[in-house]
This record gives sequence, structure tokens and C-alpha cells, in this order.
Amino acid sequence: MDTATLQTFLAAQEQKDLLRFLTCGSVDDGKSTLIGRLLYDSQLLFEDQLTSLQSDSARFGTAGTDVDFALLVDGLEAEREQGITIDVAYRYFATEKRKFIVADTPGHEQYTRNMATGASTADLALLLVDARQGLMRQTRRHAYITALLGIRHVVLAVNKMDLVGYSRERFDEIAGAFRALAADLGFESLAVIPVSAKLGDNVTAKSAHMSWYEGPTVLEHLETVPAGGRDAAPHLRFPVQWVNRPDADFRGYCGTLAGGSVRPGQQIAVAASGKVTTVSRIVAQGDDLPQAEAGEAVTIVLADEIDISRGDMLVDAASRPEVADQFAAHLIWMNDSALLPGRPYLLKIGPREIPASVTEIKYRVDVESFGHEAAKTLELNDIGVCNISLAEPVAFDPYADNRQTGSFILIDRLTNLTVGAGMIDFALRRATNIHWQALDTGRQAKASLKGQQPVVLWFTGLSGSGKSTIANIVEKKLHGRGRHTHLLDGDNVRHGLNRDLGFTDADRVENIRRVAEVARLFADAGLITLVSFISPFRSERRLARERMEPGEFVEVFIDTPIDVCAARDPKGLYAKAKSGQLKNFTGIDSPYEAPELAEIRLDTTTAEAEALADLVIAWLDENGKI
Ligand code: ADX
Repeated sequence: MDTATLQTFLAAQEQKDLLRFLTCGSVDDGKSTLIGRLLYDSQLLFEDQLTSLQSDSARFGTAGTDVDFALLVDGLEAEREQGITIDVAYRYFATEKRKFIVADTPGHEQYTRNMATGASTADLALLLVDARQGLMRQTRRHAYITALLGIRHVVLAVNKMDLVGYSRERFDEIAGAFRALAADLGFESLAVIPVSAKLGDNVTAKSAHMSWYEGPTVLEHLETVPAGGRDAAPHLRFPVQWVNRPDADFRGYCGTLAGGSVRPGQQIAVAASGKVTTVSRIVAQGDDLPQAEAGEAVTIVLADEIDISRGDMLVDAASRPEVADQFAAHLIWMNDSALLPGRPYLLKIGPREIPASVTEIKYRVDVESFGHEAAKTLELNDIGVCNISLAEPVAFDPYADNRQTGSFILIDRLTNLTVGAGMIDFALRRATNIHWQALDTGRQAKASLKGQQPVVLWFTGLSGSGKSTIANIVEKKLHGRGRHTHLLDGDNVRHGLNRDLGFTDADRVENIRRVAEVARLFADAGLITLVSFISPFRSERRLARERMEPGEFVEVFIDTPIDVCAARDPKGLYAKAKSGQLKNFTGIDSPYEAPELAEIRLDTTTAEAEALADLVIAWLDENGKI
């Protein structure tokens, strides 16, 4: 190929439209084989051209090679930058008619995660089933999630037809069941294709064994189904990735357009502050652009100096997004540990990461009937509708209006794992008429009248470890020294404020959340507050710590081995738990996550409670807390 031919070739590639699709199905269903065959067979058709492209590109130098492949895989980089494609491998292939990007999901069980994170730009989902097995629970779930993600086109490949004797009846049965379930999901197009990925039937070439099937092969269908059917989000959305300020003269905001377009002279607003200004320049790779479109990475320069930082969103002044700190969303749970309402997670939306928690699970979707069922938690792969509360307001759009500014992931704060993927339905504004009431008599004033400073002494440890005993003595000693104190004890608070809570993980999270709030109120009142709860989870102890002022929270770990607690068994609960009469008992069939960085650790096997209480007092003295 000479340069001119290469240019023509590349231009032709660029002209071809692009279909993005994802695949769902397990290794057992033959997914890898199907994808492998699609890639291999289509590459055969394409290989001559590709080989010469590669060798010629090499001769034109590195830049040449880079440019060539950038042309072929355009758009991919932008997705990678969103940082939500961790587990998804993208593969590129092309035929005479079209370019394809397939989000290939390598995991075995974790399709949900891969789907949810790889799907935000997909036009089509290719679902696979084994003809012998028929529709599985997973198939129903994938079909539902596909619809939820706003993917309009679906193909069901009924694989391993060779293993059911190419039976038309079997195929019709599966196709009928799938059409029935999909009827409720509102897809724009739906195809069901009998294939044998292994033998090549109806993948890229028509099968000689299924003359009864008159439809297209998988590849034919992929080549002709309408591409780019996603709604183009019409309004400018530009999440600021970083502020580029090389010198005092230049200040540019860098990011990728998540919707609409932008021109110099256009009036824009900063979503959160509402400040309005105009765009003075749009720069990309050193050149000024007359316009930029969704998906393009650019630097925007504004006419006025206004305060904008990473995570802000520049938007069309005439069409602004929602800005709220609460919203309702569909959530797909992707972690082995269940979602617990009240537990703080990190919510990542665009470039922003904000602490957030689920305040209510409205319902869980039953994937068999697509009906709604009551739920207190969401387990791995569950789909639910939740209310979510964030530590600060964010700018967003409903997912139906903009897939990028309307989707988020939840990250576990301790493990850093992505645990959920969400699609925002609408903003919740229930609390906007409630404001912080400024109080004239502040916490410091109250504390200093008592001649002390607020401290929260948080005792954590197993049931029977000695928390309450020691906390009780510490309180007595403080009282004796003229300190104003109050002790919150698990057993007591569970008789009143928390009488509605049991011992499931979800209830314990709520138990601690409430007690942390109450402890905060007591600290505000200037009291030295002692809290004695098992508080088995690190997340919630951390939440309690963060609820207080810096230095105010003192974690006291009552470190008593479980055998010792069980031998003491002051309430007879260990005996009951071991005989199975008591469920979810901490240390037996419910976890206790020991503190790693407690301010004070007390070993109750080597000293008496009285002496341990003295250690706490001594620590408070030494650290200037009392
Ligand atoms: S926490 O886990 O939610 O922090 P909390 O400290 O309020 O627990 O309550 C623990 C007390 O409840 C224990 O001291 C024990 O007396 C009682 N209890 C009853 N059932 C259980 C159980 N399944 N697990 C732990 N404690 C239980």
C-alpha cells in the first residue's frame, strides 16, 4: 500500500459507522468461543488489509502507527479516562460494512459488574444461552439490566445448537420464552439466533444444518442493526477534570465533554455556584477550536475569572443539570458483602468522589417476575431502587437524559473495591426547607462553663468483654473529679431509641449510626460522653469518629479473646449462640472487626477492671483531654 492508498483506506475506516456492544453469558455458554470466532472470521476478511496497514504504518514512523490505530479505535481512550472500565477488556474488529467495539467480560461470575461498568456507551447487548439449558436466572437478570442501562438492541444467541440436534422445537421454545420476557422491557430491536459457536453455524456464515432458520447470522445482524441509537445528550455538560494554570496569564479547564457541544462566545454556567460567564477559547493540542462535541477532550478558557475547581461542572446556562445532595437511583450491587443502608461509601460521579450512604431501599427487583419486593439489604447481583444521601451537593442529570452525568459507582471505603453501580432517577428535595439553625450558645461555651472539653470515649469489644464494666468505672472516676459525663450503653439504648433494631448487619449499622449521632449531640452539649457498644464494624466506628471534631473521638478497644468472653458468659448468650438458639451472635456467626488504630487498647486478661479504668483516666490526663 502506498501512502495515498493508506490514506484512502484510513479515510474509509473513519467513515464506517461504529457499533459498540457487550456480551453477557458464561464461559460455559460458549461466550469466548463466540467472540473468538467473530474476531477471527471477521479478521480473515480483513486481514489482508490489516497486515499491509501494519507494515506500512511502521514505515511511516511511530506517530504514523499511533494515528492509524487511534483512527480505528476512536473513542476508546475517553472511556478509559472515565476510569470505570476496570474489569472490561475492549476488543476492536471491523468488516467491510462496519467497525465494532466489543466490551468483553473476562470474569466468570461477575458479569453484572462488567455489564454495568462496560455498558454506558453500548448500543447493543449480545446475550448467550446454552440451548440445552435454556433461559437461566442470569439471562433474565442480564436482559433486565440491559434495559435498565438504556441499551436498545438485544440479540439472544442460542448456542450449542449442535448438541440439541439442531432442534427447531428447542430453539422455538427458548426464543418464545425470551420474547415473552423481553416484551416488558421495551427494546427497540430483538433478535434470537440459533448458533453453534464451536462449529461456526450462523456466526459469520449461514448454517448448513438449520435450513428452517431464515434470519441473519450473528455478524449480519450486527452489521445491519441501527448503530448509535443512544440518545445524544443535547445540553453542554463539561465535568472539570483539572485546572491547567501554567502561569498567571492562562487558566484553562480540562476535561471531556459529557454532553452537548461548546463554542467560543457561548454562555455557560458553573453548575454548583450558578455563576454565569462566556467561553472565550476552546483549546485542544495547542490549537484553538471553533467548536467541540460530546466525547472530545478539550481545555476551555473563560471570559471571567471565577472560582472553579476540579469536580465542578460547566454547563449550558440555558439548560442546567440538577444540583442536589439526595437522589433516587437504581442500584446494581456487585459485592459479596451486602449493601447496608446507613454505611458510608464513596460515590464516584464523573471526576468527583463524595461520601454517601443509602438512606432507604425502596424495593428490590425480583428478576423472575420483574416485580418489586421489600428489602433491607441488597446482596451480590441484586438490583434495587434506593434513596441516596451525599455529604455535599453534586451536579447530575437523570440517567435517562444523560448516561454519563447520570451514572455513578459506589466504592467501599476500607477495601477500595467498586461495590455498586447506579443510575440516577431523580433528585430528592424533601429537606431543602430545613436549614441549619445557628445557635448563639455554642458547644465551646457549654463545655467551658463545665470547665472541660467534649470527649467521646468509644468502648468497643465483644459481648462479655468487659466494656460496660470498665466504662462504668471510668464514668464514676470522672464524676468524682467533677467532670460532667454521660454513658450510653448498648443494652440500655436498645430498650428505647433503638428498640426497633435487631442484630442483622443492617440493623447494627443503623444502631451505631444513631448512637454516633446521639454521642455527637452530647458532645455538643459539652459532655464527656462514654459509649459502650460492641460496634463490630470498622466502617461505622470510622463514621462515628468522623462525626466528631478532630481529636475528640477516643477509641477504647476492650481486647478480650472470645474464649475468655465465652467462659465468663455473664448473660448466658454464648451458650445459647453455640447451641444455635441465638442467631447472628458476634464472634460466633456474626463478625467482629477488631480496631487497628485504637487510641487505647485494654487487655482484660492481665488486669482488673479498676486498674484498666485508671489507665483510661491516665491516658486522658496525659493527652490533655480532661
Ligand atoms: S452492636 O453490635 O449493635 O453494637 P450492641 O452493643 O448494641 O451491639 O448490643 C449488644 C448487646 O446485645 C450484647 O451485649 C448482648 O447483651 C445483646 N445481644 C443479644 N443478641 C445479640 C447478638 N446476636 N449479638 C450480639 N449481642 C447480642
